[in-house]
Amino acid sequence: MAPSTAGAITLTINGEKHTLPVDNRTTLLDALRERLGLTGTKKGCDQGQCGACTVLLEGRRVVSCLQLAVAAEGREVTTIEGVADGDRLHPVQQAFLDLDGYQCGYCTPGQICSAIAAIEEHAAGWPSAVTTDVRPEAGVAPLTPEEIRERMSGNLCRCGAYVSIVQAVARAAEETAQNTSGANEMNVAGAA
Ligand code: FES
Ligand code: FES
Repeated sequence: MAPSTAGAITLTINGEKHTLPVDNRTTLLDALRERLGLTGTKKGCDQGQCGACTVLLEGRRVVSCLQLAVAAEGREVTTIEGVADGDRLHPVQQAFLDLDGYQCGYCTPGQICSAIAAIEEHAAGWPSAVTTDVRPEAGVAPLTPEEIRERMSGNLCRCGAYVSIVQAVARAAEETAQNTSGANEMNVAGAA
C-alpha cells in the first residue's frame, strides 16, 4: 500500500517540541518509540487491550497504540520519561520502587502513567464502576483497594504483581493528598 503522508507534524512530548514527518497511519506509540527513541513506553498487544503503552495526553491517560500521532498534534503528551521532577522521582514511581510494584517491569511505565492519572481522577471526585454512592453530596469515595483495582483495570501485568501495584498506588495517593493539603494550608496561611 502506498504511504499516506501527512507531512511534518509537531508533537509536544514532555514539554519539548519535536517536528517530524509521519505517515497518517502512524500511531503515537510508534512515533514515540520508533521515531523519537522514547522507548520507555512499551508495546504489548498493539490493539488496546493491555495498557502497556499508556501515556498522558493533556493529563488524561490514553493507550498510545490506538492514538494516531497526527491527532496528538498541538496537544501535550507526557510519557514515563517526563513524569519525574529532575532527579526526584514522581511519588508514584517512588512507591512502585519502594513496594516492589513490578517484577519484569514491562508493564510498569504504563502502570505508572495510568496510576498518576487515576489518582488525579479520584481526587477530582470522578466515580468508578465500583463507587457505590455517586451523589455529589457524598463527596470523594475512599480510595479502597477495590477502587484502585477497578481504576487500574486497563493495565494488565503478566507477572501478576497486582498486590504490590495496588499497595504502591494507595501509598502514592496518600502522599499526594498529604502534599496537596499541606500546600493548601500554606496558601491559606500565606493569604491570611
Ligand atoms: S500496546 Fe497499547 S494497549 Fe497494549
Ligand atoms: S511486572 Fe512484568 S508484566 Fe508487569
